Amino acid sequence: MTAAELADLIRFRAGNAPVELGLILGSGLGHLADAVEGEAIGYNELPGFPQPGVSGHNPKLVVGDLLGHRVAIFGARSHYYEYGNPAAMRLPLEVLKELGAPRLLLTNAAGSVREGLTPGNLMLLTDHINFAGANPLIGEETDARFVPLGDAYCADMRAGLAAAAASESIDLAEGTYAWFSGPSFETPAEIRAIRTLGADAVGMSTVPEVILARFFGIEVAAISAITNMGEGMSDEKLSHAHTKANAVAGAEKLERVIRAYLGAL
Ligand code: HPA
Repeated sequence: MTAAELADLIRFRAGNAPVELGLILGSGLGHLADAVEGEAIGYNELPGFPQPGVSGHNPKLVVGDLLGHRVAIFGARSHYYEYGNPAAMRLPLEVLKELGAPRLLLTNAAGSVREGLTPGNLMLLTDHINFAGANPLIGEETDARFVPLGDAYCADMRAGLAAAAASESIDLAEGTYAWFSGPSFETPAEIRAIRTLGADAVGMSTVPEVILARFFGIEVAAISAITNMGEGMSDEKLSHAHTKANAVAGAEKLERVIRAYLGAL
């Protein structure tokens, strides 16, 4: 099905009002979808949608009302490391555009590369480094593929999210996110390398979605919930179970920030 047809299907089930904000929820952060009053549609009911197989994700799209705003929440993402396809989220993001969403807020679980930015903290992305080297627009044939990324992270949304965090007395760090393909974690040498290059956090997602959203003309902001220090920076053993367990503290803060952000929209 095309994105336009999928958007029709979603509107038929969830109503016609245009979506004001899209959200993509990262590992262990899927809970917010349950707070929305609206229609939950399984990705398996949306032909062509990826079928993410990562535990700690909730593969449904919820379209409805959250604090008086029309939202579309993607409870799961598909990652580059699942199938080697950096464009795995292209169709969902095109559908989001078709649903009228002017902006998208991405969340993820990430490792910290910066001393002092510790597990349980949140980081607002100001920029990214595409260390995976893959690009979701490879194969796109129109000139629109040359997407400028100088202002990829929307200044207005960032200001709104910073104000929302402040209103909740939640520290919201700011920094640069480095994208690694995963699914293996990084080596200590890789963590040292990206710190030298200016990264503050590291993760396995988000960057391809940012590129795709900008391609579709959607404004973007992204927040990392820090679940661990990068490999070599602490004695913790990294694992997906560890990521999910440590996402809980960040998820609670993130939910408060998102609610305050929506409340002020
Ligand atoms: N590296 C990459 N991805 C991650 C990490 C990490 O340390 N923590 C959570 N997601």
